[in-house]
Amino acid sequence: MPPDSQNSEELVLAFLAEAGDEFVSGEAISDKLGLTRAAVWKHVEALRAQGYRIDAIPARGYRLAEVPDRLTPLELRPLLNTHDLGQGLHWYEELGSTSDRAKELADEGAEHGTVVIAEAQTAGRGRRGRAWASPARRNLYFSVILRPELPPARAPELTLVASIALCDALRQAGVNAGIKWPNDLLASEKKIAGILTELAAEPDRVHWVVLGAGINVNARAEDFPEELRGEATSVLLERGQPAPRALFAAACFTALEEWIDRHAEEGFAPVREAWRERSVTLGREVIVKADGREIAGTADDIDESGALLVRTRAGVERVLAGDVTLVRPR
Ligand code: BTN
Repeated sequence: MPPDSQNSEELVLAFLAEAGDEFVSGEAISDKLGLTRAAVWKHVEALRAQGYRIDAIPARGYRLAEVPDRLTPLELRPLLNTHDLGQGLHWYEELGSTSDRAKELADEGAEHGTVVIAEAQTAGRGRRGRAWASPARRNLYFSVILRPELPPARAPELTLVASIALCDALRQAGVNAGIKWPNDLLASEKKIAGILTELAAEPDRVHWVVLGAGINVNARAEDFPEELRGEATSVLLERGQPAPRALFAAACFTALEEWIDRHAEEGFAPVREAWRERSVTLGREVIVKADGREIAGTADDIDESGALLVRTRAGVERVLAGDVTLVRPR
């Protein structure tokens, strides 16, 4: 399809999406978008062929009744109200890892805010070399390219920034999510989302950061590998009803951009405060695996650079990177 035709199709879809449950006349669409009535009809047919259900009633016009459960630019763009995040959007039916593709694009010069999103990953990666279960069309797998003006030592702050944003998006979707240090999202003490942060930098300058996010949206228990079933959850499992993935992705992008901008403008202080408010780690007995050691104690706080402060019998340990286990009971 030629690019301008694709664009008009997106505009027709955006117009219908904005009208929500209301019918809009073919005349209103053609006037607003500068298209002939025949062109409007052609775009409506093309959208229907892609799985959109569009009601048409002669005297009333068109109404968007159902959108396909897909995350292509056609579905996502009309839902985005961001200035950078997702404005460059690369969609794939299947990828090894969205973060690997995002890193390639970052090396080729892709702009700040570019997003790579896939319906499935065959080699999804988690932190510490773990695999990330990525069944097709159930969840969200995306990676965002950032070009922050930060010294490399401050890049880990972005990991906490992202965890706040995803926590807020999950809460808006009705899930009682909290953050386990540094950036695991938990609900009912099970993992619902994870963030993988990778970067390329010189000693004094970050070239790019790739934030990779995996969020379990509509995964059922049987979609998780057996060994994870007691430890992982999803929006569907928490709420008892599925979430529209495109809407949820748009909410994540909005929250991410808001927090990334706030961090750029105001620094780490508001991030630290917001992270504390959403934390399920602070005040808990924890065991932290870091640098081949195990540190047992109480998670007291995060410091002004986001490091975890663990109070042990021997004193306070400052942990920059590690894996936290929350010791039960709460
Ligand atoms: C974690 O271990 O908690 C981090 C998981 C991050 C998974 C996401 S899914 C999208 C992106 N692509 C990947 O290969 N990993 C991240």
